[in-house]
Amino acid sequence: MNQKVRRTHTLRGSIVPPGDKSISHRALILNSIAEGNARISNFLPAADCLSTVCCLRSLGTNIAIEKNEVTICGTGRRGFNNPGTVLDAGNSGTTIRILAGLLATQPFESVITGDDSLRSRPMGRVIHPLTLMGAEIRGEENSTKAPLIIRGGNLHGIRYQLPVASAQIKSAILLAGLSAQGNTIIEEPGPSRDHTERMLRAMGACVASEGCMINLEPIVSPLSPIDVTVPGDISSAAFWLIAGALHPDARIAILRTGTNPSRSGIIDILHAMGANLRTENERTEGNEPVADLVVESSSLRSTTIEGVTIPRIIDEIPAIAVAASVANGTTFIRNASELRVKESDRISSTVEELSKLGAQIEELPDGMIIHGVPKLKGSLCDSHNDHRLAMALGIAGLIAEGETIISGAEVVNISYPDFWETLARISLG
Ligand code: S3P
Repeated sequence: MNQKVRRTHTLRGSIVPPGDKSISHRALILNSIAEGNARISNFLPAADCLSTVCCLRSLGTNIAIEKNEVTICGTGRRGFNNPGTVLDAGNSGTTIRILAGLLATQPFESVITGDDSLRSRPMGRVIHPLTLMGAEIRGEENSTKAPLIIRGGNLHGIRYQLPVASAQIKSAILLAGLSAQGNTIIEEPGPSRDHTERMLRAMGACVASEGCMINLEPIVSPLSPIDVTVPGDISSAAFWLIAGALHPDARIAILRTGTNPSRSGIIDILHAMGANLRTENERTEGNEPVADLVVESSSLRSTTIEGVTIPRIIDEIPAIAVAASVANGTTFIRNASELRVKESDRISSTVEELSKLGAQIEELPDGMIIHGVPKLKGSLCDSHNDHRLAMALGIAGLIAEGETIISGAEVVNISYPDFWETLARISLG
């Protein structure tokens, strides 16, 4: 699908962002092994989370979905069924990697795969620690890619240093560790999102975190189910925060957004760039911090983004690159080579597409250098089948001169099915 976006006169309105994708996955996956029923409210019924639903149903979990409300009955002591079919994670890295951790504990052989993009992404990073714990896992290309063939078994806890800060890998190891013999200890090079740890604790598991070290004790009885109200996804809210800051006549309120410190780097970066951005009504919903965010037209300056900030904004970088393209000065993004193994190679795809709009942007092996220009010019560009790039190009279209056409725009269904409708609703004149 080709989506046309024109520069709009005014941006106004309130937006309730869709439910957080990472938390929606975890609410499903963790409740699927609990003993009993749970409700998930404000669930994200987008393609990635629906891939998780399909896999869990094939494993014998009862899940009913009505719009954003889910009821789920965990398998608890009974354990998963042998699915007898290939599990399909679609485009979702979170589904395949976190489920690999659970499949590693099951006494049957399972096969899990995904679409072309997912089958090209690195899986050695999850195969390696789970194999050290005692699972047998094989994959394509010398066991570095999906499909993964997993024979679970009697696992033992390990002490493991993650080579990259990755919440998906951390979560896979933690879920495997729940039914391993002995404690599992994980050290991260920097803090990644901690939704799994928060939810596991609330469900009765013993997980202690100190700095970048996490210590998990195996469980002696199944997890207790937990009702979850999923906060709005800050990674989806980020597009509106940036659109509001960049547009010359904007005021947007983004309500009920998750502001977990391991995810809220975008707020810090926009402040560092001089954005007119306020956080209001800070509160805790369930086990996660939530707030309303109000952004107004701003005059942005460049910044440098590197080191431990990167995992806190990893999914927001294509949108941040749009902001940096028209900020005053030169922005450096470094230590972000993980972007190369996302749904697209987000360094080269972002550089290629924003260049078409007139951005002055250079590719680095692990990031980008972006020299701010006074304005972008509408053009024909492509999503590279990457939801976050499509949405970043969408907000660029709101401020670029003339018309921007984004091909492959339907890919927003991966995380934000209402994105284009919301963009049209807040675009006035
Ligand atoms: C996610 C973790 C991040 C992120 C992805 C969602 C998660 O990936 O980029 O969109 O839900 O755990 P990594 O774990 O590979 O860093």
